[in-house]
Amino acid sequence: MNTQTIEKKDFLPLNGTDYIELYVGNAKQAAHFYKTAFGFQSLAYAGPETGVKDRASYVLVQNKMRLMLTSPMHSDHPISEHIRKHGDGVKVLALIVDDAYDAYEQTTKRGGISCMEPKTLSDKNGEVRLSGIKTYGEVEHIFVERKNYNGVFMPGFVEWKSAYNPTETGLLYVDHCVGNVDWNGMNPRVKFYEEVMGFNNILSFDDNDISTEYSALMSKVMSNGNGYVKFPINEPAVGKKKSQVEEYLDFYEGEGTQHIAIATNDIVSTVKQLMARGVEFLKVPASYYEDLFDRVGKIEEDIEPLKELGILVDRDDQGYLLQLFSKPVEDRPTMFFEIIQRKGAKSFGKGNFKALFEALEREQDIRGNL
Ligand code: FE2
Repeated sequence: MNTQTIEKKDFLPLNGTDYIELYVGNAKQAAHFYKTAFGFQSLAYAGPETGVKDRASYVLVQNKMRLMLTSPMHSDHPISEHIRKHGDGVKVLALIVDDAYDAYEQTTKRGGISCMEPKTLSDKNGEVRLSGIKTYGEVEHIFVERKNYNGVFMPGFVEWKSAYNPTETGLLYVDHCVGNVDWNGMNPRVKFYEEVMGFNNILSFDDNDISTEYSALMSKVMSNGNGYVKFPINEPAVGKKKSQVEEYLDFYEGEGTQHIAIATNDIVSTVKQLMARGVEFLKVPASYYEDLFDRVGKIEEDIEPLKELGILVDRDDQGYLLQLFSKPVEDRPTMFFEIIQRKGAKSFGKGNFKALFEALEREQDIRGNL
C-alpha cells in the first residue's frame, strides 16, 4: 500500500452515526410515535423553555442510535419551508469524528460545500465541536466531536425526563442510510463520497439486478474505511412503469433519504414488538418461503416465525442476513425504515430485491402511483 492510498483512506476517520435529525411538522407528537412504536427513550430537549426560541428539538435514544426530531415555531423559518416542500424527512446524518475542525478542513478542501463552519459548544459538562458539509438534496453531514463531553447530548440541550417510558424493542444502531437521487445523480454523488469523504464504492447494482416487470433502479453502496458508515445511493432507471425511486422523488419533491436501516440481534423479537406497537411492514407473498432454503441454504432460525412476520433472508459469501422493510412512516410515500440482523453477511439483500420491489409496487399501485 503506498502512502497515497493510506492518505485517501484515513483523512476522515468516522466512528459511526452520531445522530439522525428529522425535520417534522410536529416534533412533540413525532417523539411520542418513535417512543411508542419503536421503543426509543427520551434523552434530551431544546426549545423555548431552554432559551431556543425558534424551534423545538427532541432527542431520543435506543442503544447506540440517536434520533432528533425538530419543528420550527413560525412559518417564516427555513425549517418550515423544508417541511412545506418535503413533508417530514431527514435533514442531518451526523457522523462521529475525532476532530470536527480537521474533518471540515479535509472535506472542504476536497470540494465539500460547507453548511456549518467549525464551532465549539461548551457547558459545565465539557465541550462538543461541530462542523458540517452538504450532501444530496438538502441533507447535511454534521461532524460531531464529543470526546470531551459527558453531558446527556450536547450543550444547548437539557436532559429530557419523561413519565412515559415504553420499553425498547431491541434496536441497536444505524446499519446504513439510503439516499434517493435524481436521474443521472448517482455517479456524481458516488464521486462526492469517494473524493470528498474518502469512501469506497463497495457494491453496485444496475437495472439488470434491480428490476421487476415494471420498474427499475440503480444503486451503488458507499462505505467509509472501517465500514461503520454506509450510504447506498439509488437512482431511478427506465422501466415500463414508474419506479419506487421516482415515486419518492415526486412526493419528496427532490432528493432525500429513502430509508434508515437499524440493526437488531434478534429480528423475530424486534419485529414482533414493532408490529404489536403498530409499525406496518411490507408483505411478500407466502410463495417467497417455498424455495427459501434452496436460495439461502441452512439458517439458524425456524422458518415459521419468519414466514409469519414476513421477514426476508439473503446470503452472500460471508454469511446471511435477515431483513424487513416498513411502510413509509409519513402520509407521503417517502421515508421508511429497514430492520436488519446480520449473520456474517456484509451485503444488502440483493436476493430479496425482486420480491421486495414487487411488494413495493403493489403499494404504489394502491396509491395510484405506479
Ligand atoms: Fe437497506
